[in-house]
Amino acid sequence: MKSIRTLVAAAVIAAVTVPAVGHIEQSEPIQSLRQSYFALLGMTFGPMADMVKGDIPWDDATFQGWAKDLAAVSGFQVERGFSPGSEEGMTRAKPDIWLNTDDFNAKLQDFRREAGTLAEVAAGGDRGAIQTQFVATGKTCKACHDEYKSKDYLY
Ligand code: HEC
Repeated sequence: MKSIRTLVAAAVIAAVTVPAVGHIEQSEPIQSLRQSYFALLGMTFGPMADMVKGDIPWDDATFQGWAKDLAAVSGFQVERGFSPGSEEGMTRAKPDIWLNTDDFNAKLQDFRREAGTLAEVAAGGDRGAIQTQFVATGKTCKACHDEYKSKDYLY
């Protein structure tokens, strides 16, 4: 029988070994970490926006699920994706993030708070209130992007 150590090692290798075509850029894993976080936000917030705008039919349960996911993902400690030295590489993260860390983190907290409220409001099922809170949440994405995200890759 294989030892537990071997089994765990095999499981870890299977889970974290990334093929060359994966989304984790091996030379810039920290940049990839934060971009993966924002990609999840975008891929969740995007379809929610489609539903709020009426581009896809409204469905309470689906919207609630997305809102729950957004709030859960928001809580991931993406701060470690902005560690010193990760300013460069394939990134749209402006250098000001590392100069104004407190303000950047405050904007991150604003977003987490509004996303949390959005999940609560969504669970309540009041569409008017959901739309209002959706807009409030979107403003926290924009507030950070206006200040700290470049439109194009920087380097
Ligand atoms: C506290 C700041 C902050 C908040 C809040 C924030 N973003 Fe961003 N976002 C960034 C930064 C910085 C980048 C660039 C990261 C990089 O290129 O290294 C980014 C990148 C992105 C990207 C591009 C990801 C990629 O493919 O590389 C998407 C999509 C995105 N954000 C969507 C959102 C959405 C949607 C929200 C709100 C629901 C949001 N962001 C909230 C700072 C923020």
